[in-house]
Amino acid sequence: MTKTKTTIWQANSKYNENRINPSNNEQNFFELTEAAEVLREGGLVAFPTETVYGLGADARNSEAVAGIFKAKGRPSDNPLIVHIADINQLDELVLPYSQLAKSVMDRFWPGPLTIVLPVQPNKLSSLVTATLPTVGIRIPDHPVALALLRLSQCPVAAPSANRSGRPSPTLAKHVLDDLDGSIAGIIDGGPTGVGLESTVIELEGERTIRILRPGGITEEQLIEAFPEAIILNDRESDDGIEQPRSPGMKYTHYAPKGDLEVVQGTADDVISFIRAQVVLVAKENKKTGVLAFSERIGKYEADMVIDLGSEKQLDEAAQRLYAALRQFDEAGVQCIWAEACSKEGIGGALMNRIVKAAGQRITLV
Ligand code: TXA
Ligand code: MG
Repeated sequence: MTKTKTTIWQANSKYNENRINPSNNEQNFFELTEAAEVLREGGLVAFPTETVYGLGADARNSEAVAGIFKAKGRPSDNPLIVHIADINQLDELVLPYSQLAKSVMDRFWPGPLTIVLPVQPNKLSSLVTATLPTVGIRIPDHPVALALLRLSQCPVAAPSANRSGRPSPTLAKHVLDDLDGSIAGIIDGGPTGVGLESTVIELEGERTIRILRPGGITEEQLIEAFPEAIILNDRESDDGIEQPRSPGMKYTHYAPKGDLEVVQGTADDVISFIRAQVVLVAKENKKTGVLAFSERIGKYEADMVIDLGSEKQLDEAAQRLYAALRQFDEAGVQCIWAEACSKEGIGGALMNRIVKAAGQRITLV
């Protein structure tokens, strides 16, 4: 691939100012006009969202969108999420939608929720939808992302800004590690908030919400907001194999380079199992790692032990997970054991990603 020089635009301080004073608007992001220009001219720009960093391109420009697939090494049958700044941009991109869809948007946008809607023909590059009749859309809840989207004045296709098969980036540094030299620029807005990707949903009629990918908006939040709705969860079928209804779900994402195994059971059993495995594997001169919650972190001795925070604060664990997986890679850890956690709240998405990173390897002890 031809190397380009990747520009880094800093939006850190402005972002923080904006969080403190929400009345600040995009005028404060004048440095983003350059990034927006690059997007409009067909370049690739990575930017922070409230979930993970996205790799953006003008969703109407096939050449630009093709660049995303090339830079990421992403399979072309995996469609991209389109990001918009304002609900007014929606009608041009999708066919008329249900009242339920409207209510879901009103309740959760801007926010970490992607809604799959029937696409308006010929408005977006067909590479974005991977020729599906639908498109996933969201309005991100991040001042830098929103400012960029407004300034660029185009719908922005943006998958997570990692090389395919690597954990999603939660820092600009992660984006650079994966994509430096193959994209035009990165807007550094500091660490992302949620740390896991958006929830992807599809609506069926006026009553059914189908979760295609668990994420930043939890199943409990959907149930609470729409108590009358039927909420279906495609997360796993009965045999634990994910249904590829959302094309991206059939690929092994987020896998660290080392072998990862999730261990589930009572605290004592999990500790003894992991401790014994570490000793066994260390004898083979392999580098060992443990991903654990702070409640039991002191119980493990391995080459690298990473604390995800308290198992009672899974929001924090969600923020830390992808960086932790990258740390194991950097240290060349060959065998990793991860403690399982509750699937309540954000735990649903967290366990989904940990289990995926483990290639579905869960050991019940
Ligand atoms: O939080 C996020 O969603 C981040 C940030 C950057 O917005 N983006 C992200 O994009 O995670 P990506 O490409 O890594 O994941 C998009 C997921 C994939 O699983 C894809 O298959 C699914 O959304 N998806 C996209 N369009 C779809 C469609 N029309 N029907 C079903 N699934 C779709
Ligand atoms: Mg991704």
